[in-house]
Amino acid sequence: MILKPYTQIHINGIHADDIRTHFMAAESERYNLTDPFRNEDAKWSVMMQLPYLLPLLGESLSGKVVLDLGCGAKEGLDTRQKMKRILEARWTPTLRDQFNTQFEPWLCRALHYAGTTAIGVDVGASPDEIFRYHQVDLTLPNCLAFLPHASVDLVHMREVLNSPYLSKGLQKNPLEMMRNLMPQLELIVKPDGFFLFNEEEICSVENARSAILP
Ligand SMILES: C[S@@+](CC[C@H](N)C(=O)[O-])C[C@H]1O[C@@H](n2cnc3c(N)ncnc32)[C@H](O)[C@@H]1O
Repeated sequence: MILKPYTQIHINGIHADDIRTHFMAAESERYNLTDPFRNEDAKWSVMMQLPYLLPLLGESLSGKVVLDLGCGAKEGLDTRQKMKRILEARWTPTLRDQFNTQFEPWLCRALHYAGTTAIGVDVGASPDEIFRYHQVDLTLPNCLAFLPHASVDLVHMREVLNSPYLSKGLQKNPLEMMRNLMPQLELIVKPDGFFLFNEEEICSVENARSAILP
């Protein structure tokens, strides 16, 4: 039996965990990764996502364009909802800090470090990111019209449809958001490109197709 840890998924001899380790060492100062909570959040977030993307990106990460929908934000609105609950429950400042940076755009930051053109989109504000960040509400018509046709190699989306801000803040139906997005993605993704998703609401390809189609 061959043991195959999740961290060992690689392309071209580069392991996800190597990219993560180098990214965190090189960018420690920029992202304040000496803070143990930020360090844990960055590590966890990158390793929960990057290994799924690598096999789809081919021989090299540089030169690829990845669009991350609901990528997270410094001033994330989900984080605010969570903070509110935590404060109401009178959790300790230590626990409060722990939840503060979980949904920052760690994946886009790591991809940018690895030479990919990372385009992150989120409804929250994230000033001064060094990758290409757009503050966009994905429920709005033509919200991705700023991207040229057939320009994206991989669209990624993780845990956006179950966002508390989407259902409680915006009071929007997650599948309606997908119906708004899918025709736009068909235009901006290259014909041999991918839409990689991890969403409870569309948990298989068949399920996604039937849920998204009118
Ligand atoms: C649970 S977080 C996931 C963040 C990131 N994808 C990850 O896996 O770490 C959900 C994200 O979706 C974003 N979001 C929710 N509704 C959105 C909308 N209508 N348009 C854009 N982003 C949205 C939230 O701001 C939040 O950053």
